[in-house]
Amino acid sequence: MSNAAKIRVGLNGYGVIGKRVAAAVTLQEDMTLAGVSDVTTDWRARTIVRNGYRLFSATDEAAASMRKAGLAVAGSLDDLLANADVIVDCTPKRIAARNVDHYRRRGLKFILQGGEKHETTGHSFVAESNYASALGRQATRVVSCNTTSVVRTLTALKRAGLLRRARGTLLRRATDPWESHEHGIMNTLVPEPAIPSHQAPDARTVDPDLDVVTMAVAVPETLAHLHCWSVQMTRAASKDEVLDAFRQSTRIALIRIADGLVALNSVKELMADRGRPHDNMYEVALWSDMLHVQGDEVFYSYMVDNQAIVIPETIDAIRALTGTVEDASESMARTNASLGLETTLI
Ligand SMILES: NC(=O)c1ccc[n+]([C@@H]2O[C@H](COP(=O)([O-])OP(=O)(O)OC[C@H]3O[C@@H](n4cnc5c(N)ncnc54)[C@H](O)[C@@H]3O)[C@@H](O)[C@H]2O)c1
Repeated sequence: MSNAAKIRVGLNGYGVIGKRVAAAVTLQEDMTLAGVSDVTTDWRARTIVRNGYRLFSATDEAAASMRKAGLAVAGSLDDLLANADVIVDCTPKRIAARNVDHYRRRGLKFILQGGEKHETTGHSFVAESNYASALGRQATRVVSCNTTSVVRTLTALKRAGLLRRARGTLLRRATDPWESHEHGIMNTLVPEPAIPSHQAPDARTVDPDLDVVTMAVAVPETLAHLHCWSVQMTRAASKDEVLDAFRQSTRIALIRIADGLVALNSVKELMADRGRPHDNMYEVALWSDMLHVQGDEVFYSYMVDNQAIVIPETIDAIRALTGTVEDASESMARTNASLGLETTLI
């Protein structure tokens, strides 16, 4: 594909999610990374330049301090926006919402992440559930890591005609590894104060038909989230039938305790051994041998790599907004192939 025909993607905010989105964009044959804007001047900004990306300053103050720090600045955020067909905003929670008016005034397509509210874009995105309704829109929000996993798994059961209602408990990692010197809890567990926790209502911003309730607990580790679910099905079904429903998703990988994948750390180690960048696991890793069916109820548990799961969704959201690929399965197949997603991890 010629460069002129590629989707020009601008990235604002090169943190945990932004750096992974940037790397994923560069792997897409139909996309080019127009540049990356941020406000930092330390090793993070230097990594942007070192990776060969054009660095833009998100604010006037950042422009001055980046130049003072000797960084090669290609221009301002506005300069980046002028050279992009779509902007992916991966700035911290609530900062992205402040950029929305600016993007709208420029008539630019934009994607926000799960830290922002549904109302900021009026559309919330999970590729396997509602790619079609994002086609040609100006904006969407890729929902949070936990919500993405909830919608992926419940959509698989729903498509198989098995889903009546779902109740889940989420054990949430305390903070991200790179900032664990600053935040995070130790030697305690902190339940979220309200039931349902925000992930269940958030899942319904993608699919309003889901009957889902979640509770959440923050736990003192940084590897990933662990979910435990109890689902009432529409009828009694066999374990194989339920597993087959999950197998229909290209973004759920079945793993087994019998293979030694007994905990979050062993699955994470597997991702490192597989040579995934940043040990990324883009799939929901669901324990097939642990899954238990009792009449019309199914119980299961899975792991969510919070830092990686939303990356394929963000790539698909770019194609959906720009309308370059109308078929969800085609976009997902391209994304999956470029990032190396698998439904069997070993
Ligand atoms: N970290 C996760 O596990 C995770 C998972 C799913 C979704 N999300 C969502 O993704 C979004 C980004 O989160 P994150 O964890 O990557 O944040 P982060 O703090 O790791 O990174 C944010 C980046 O934005 C930069 N930044 C700060 N202010 C800026 C500004 N005004 N303009 C431009 N850049 C600015 C920071 O320097 C940093 O590089 C949030 O909406 C968050 O809720 C995070």
